[in-house]
Amino acid sequence: MIREVKKEDREPIIRLIRATKNFSDAEILIAEELIDICTERPEQKDYFAYVATSPLPLPLPRGGAGERLAGFLLLGPTPATTGTYDMYWIAVDPEFQGRGIAQALDDHAVQFVRGRGGYLIIAETSSQPSYKRTRAFYAKQQYEVLAHIRDYYKPGDDLIIFGKKV
Ligand SMILES: CC(C)(COP(=O)(O)OP(=O)(O)OC[C@H]1O[C@@H](n2cnc3c(N)ncnc32)[C@H](O)[C@@H]1OP(=O)(O)O)[C@@H](O)C(=O)NCCC(=O)NCCS
Repeated sequence: MIREVKKEDREPIIRLIRATKNFSDAEILIAEELIDICTERPEQKDYFAYVATSPLPLPLPRGGAGERLAGFLLLGPTPATTGTYDMYWIAVDPEFQGRGIAQALDDHAVQFVRGRGGYLIIAETSSQPSYKRTRAFYAKQQYEVLAHIRDYYKPGDDLIIFGKKV
């Protein structure tokens, strides 16, 4: 199931992002700030966060939520464009990877953007070997490489900008 982020998702999302081992502390801080914007300022229109959940096997722990966070998506309109959206984060808990959860989150992103009259989704990623799976994922989801900027993050670590017309 995919639903809007709630305040109590903050810690589980950060645990999920850490578990992927793909993000620096600085990037995780940015994720925390963006989750807070989404949950504490419902009137804002810049960032939208969703989680994919998986039901827990029965019997549920006493007082347990009955679901586990499996994936996280954060996107929003790119400022000063008329229909471009940035997919700022898409991440799936390693225990749940390879089951189509990111595909479902990307489908959700496409519906979200189409529903607002948008036409282009941009996703930025790194050339590092640890992002091989991420790049394969974007290619499978019909994103094209629109730009490749050498040494962008640091020498030897390039920025790869993927995009998909929706
Ligand atoms: C990239 C990521 C989101 C994919 O999540 P996922 O739930 O495992 O992806 P899915 O199961 O939906 O896979 C969809 C497609 O992606 C591709 N893919 C996924 N894992 C792959 C792998 N190990 N090797 C090659 N292709 C792969 C496949 O083509 C797959 O299609 P298939 O099921 O027909 O084989 C996940 O690996 C992740 O969280 N990575 C770390 C975080 C990250 O880098 N996020 C992006 C930057 S913000």
